[in-house]
Amino acid sequence: MQGDTRLTGQVNIGGAKNAVVAIIPATILAKGKCVIHNVPNISDVSILLRMLSEMGANVRFHSKRTVEIDASNIINPFVSYELARHLRASYYFLGALIGRCGHASVSMPGGCSLGVRPIDQHIKGFECLGSSVSIDHGVINTSLKQELIGSHVYFDVVSVGATINVMLAAVRAKGLTILENAAKEPHIVDLANFLNTMGADVRGAGTDVIKIHGVDIIRGAEYTIIPDQIEAGTYMIAAAATGGDVLVKNVIPKHMESISNKLVRAGAIVEEYDESIRVRREGPILPATIKTMTHPGFPTDMQPQFTSMLTLAEGTSVITEGIWDSRFRYVDELARMGANIQVDGKVAVVQGVKRLTGAPVKATDLRAGAALMIAALTASGETEIEDIFHIERGYEDVVDKFRALGASIKRIETPDVEISPAL
Ligand code: EPU
Repeated sequence: MQGDTRLTGQVNIGGAKNAVVAIIPATILAKGKCVIHNVPNISDVSILLRMLSEMGANVRFHSKRTVEIDASNIINPFVSYELARHLRASYYFLGALIGRCGHASVSMPGGCSLGVRPIDQHIKGFECLGSSVSIDHGVINTSLKQELIGSHVYFDVVSVGATINVMLAAVRAKGLTILENAAKEPHIVDLANFLNTMGADVRGAGTDVIKIHGVDIIRGAEYTIIPDQIEAGTYMIAAAATGGDVLVKNVIPKHMESISNKLVRAGAIVEEYDESIRVRREGPILPATIKTMTHPGFPTDMQPQFTSMLTLAEGTSVITEGIWDSRFRYVDELARMGANIQVDGKVAVVQGVKRLTGAPVKATDLRAGAALMIAALTASGETEIEDIFHIERGYEDVVDKFRALGASIKRIETPDVEISPAL
């Protein structure tokens, strides 16, 4: 990528990664065809669809972003390590398969790059519904002594993954399940809406108490995935960081509020329309204080990108990571480009510098990769980002989208690219 770029123009946001990675496994619950629109063209989606195919589901693309899934006749409720290691969300097949057939075997998702990622809350939820869970030789096995029974589940920590997984199982449990201290992210609401379109009875998604009345039959449905909050936020930050002027289209402005608010604090001008947001910056980048939190707080998945912009602020910013133990690994890469960031545990102190300089760097995970792209756009000279498979797991057509906004960017194929475990 060449730096010294000012992004201008319009960019269309795709479907939400963290919604679609729950909704694809949810189709397993249905007897009948599901047609899903606004499916982002990312590698996480391809891998989940391969898992469905291996279980015996029929998967067919109507167009680039519309997929038809018929899982009526699945024969093999198993997700192998070969596929599970590629992405975290493979474990959503656990909840969906428990709901569908009462038992499941899913390999543990592979190593991770954000710190410890326990699944105790998922297991607790499944056990509350009457499932037995064991982990043998790296495979999570669940079985049911009798039937799946609705229950009261109080999550000890707010977990997106556990809320989704237990919700997927509970839609078919007998009676009422109440999830307390549930996650409230937009993708939780999107999954609940999809489940309800399929005939489930899920209420309260988007609040911290979700009530699910189990139903006997879940049928196929047609559904459109919500826009990706994090993809949109990434282009908004990129626009501000480069002193550009970008209209980010196909967004839900309400989902963007915590990000828009911080961008204004950092010196950007943000204008909201019905389904788009214009971001530009004319003055300097101002320092900011950020603490990542569960929704509706500032999302952890925007932390690396925002920090990247703040490396160029006129003053000192303080970033506190409130969700993950280890989400500052990208800081060493930004330092190679001239950033001045001190990290102490979950706090990063960013002393703004006049400019960054292009350098060879490595994406350590998905959002870290996005942060490096933003840095590369602002830096002087050329930056080469290695391991972009991380970025392509969650950003569709990222090279074309940045190029359409004026970036000088080229994707270089290298042999032996390995998709790593992840988010
Ligand atoms: N946690 C537990 N026990 C559990 C589950 C989680 O202690 O059983 C802890 C985690 O260690 C963490 C906190 O709870 O400290 C929150 O974890 P959560 O379960 O909410 O995260 P996740 O479901 O694994 C999803 C997204 C992440 C995003 C987080 C937080 C997907 C596929 N992944 O992860 O997205 O950072 O929620 O919002 O939805 C990304 O897209 O870049 C990404 C990392």
